[in-house]
Amino acid sequence: MAEPRPRVWLARPLFEDITARLDGHFDVVRTPVEDRYPPAAVAGHLREIDGALVTLSEKIGAEEIAGAARLRAIANVAVGYDNLDLPALTAAGVLVTNTPDVLTETTADFGFALLMATARRITEAERWLREGRWDRWSFDRLLGADLHGSTLGILGMGRIGQGIARRAGGFDMRVLYHNRSRLPAETESACKARYVGFAELLAQADHLMLVLPYTAQTHHVIDAAALAKMKPTATLVNIARGGIVDEPALIDALAHGRLAAAGLDVYEGEPAVRPELLALRNVVLTPHIASASPATRRAMVALAVDNLIAALGCGPDAGRPSAPVNAGKMKR
Ligand code: DGY
Repeated sequence: MAEPRPRVWLARPLFEDITARLDGHFDVVRTPVEDRYPPAAVAGHLREIDGALVTLSEKIGAEEIAGAARLRAIANVAVGYDNLDLPALTAAGVLVTNTPDVLTETTADFGFALLMATARRITEAERWLREGRWDRWSFDRLLGADLHGSTLGILGMGRIGQGIARRAGGFDMRVLYHNRSRLPAETESACKARYVGFAELLAQADHLMLVLPYTAQTHHVIDAAALAKMKPTATLVNIARGGIVDEPALIDALAHGRLAAAGLDVYEGEPAVRPELLALRNVVLTPHIASASPATRRAMVALAVDNLIAALGCGPDAGRPSAPVNAGKMKR
């Protein structure tokens, strides 16, 4: 008798033409509509399945996998995986994969767009114009901060940070970075970026871009003390994860002129955004869209599908998904 096929849960309706490949290997439990799952619903979906393809909206930890005895693999459709409790999943023997590389350039493009919009007050100016307040051209209205000739600080110098640094070269910016570990000299020179300590990065940056992973160690790394080290004329851009910034401290700095402006694509309680942020003039707010281009979103789903097929021991790369996060750390 033929072996039963593994069962996988597809947590979102994602590019049907791409996810159809899963049907060649698995019995696929599909989700017809976008939904927000409370923990109990996620736990219910994971109970009788061998693998899952999820997005950053699905939070999965010990509680959600408590009844998921068959679960062996989770393919996250994102490069960040702070939605997944890695120690809990690793201890339970669940292989986690992510989607690096395919989103690097699109995300770096967006980081730069958000930086420009923030520094040059583009959305603020547009709001002002739409409100019908433009009565005459004025020499000193809506003055913004230059990018060219300024110092860009990059906190987190992985693939996306390096993509931002390469773009900054085209704007004649001086690039400083801080990272868990210093990059090899050839990478630094390709990015024309200089390594500095965290305090120096904060003090020197005219524009500070956050591109680091969110972990217990990076939680609120931009807090009131860090913000106090920044220039009051500086801009801050966060395309990483909301929890990296202490939002009340940021709001206070922006409201009291201790920081010129912020561009935020991510929020601590997203999709909820603090009303104090919505009320501020000097922030540009976007709804976590840094990787949102059709080609990139399709490439992310394709990679996650490949990862899941390989992680569950099928397809040409059986057992060797190309983007494992916790391979080799498994406790069972
Ligand atoms: C990621 O991949 O981590 C982004 O935040 C969503 O594309």
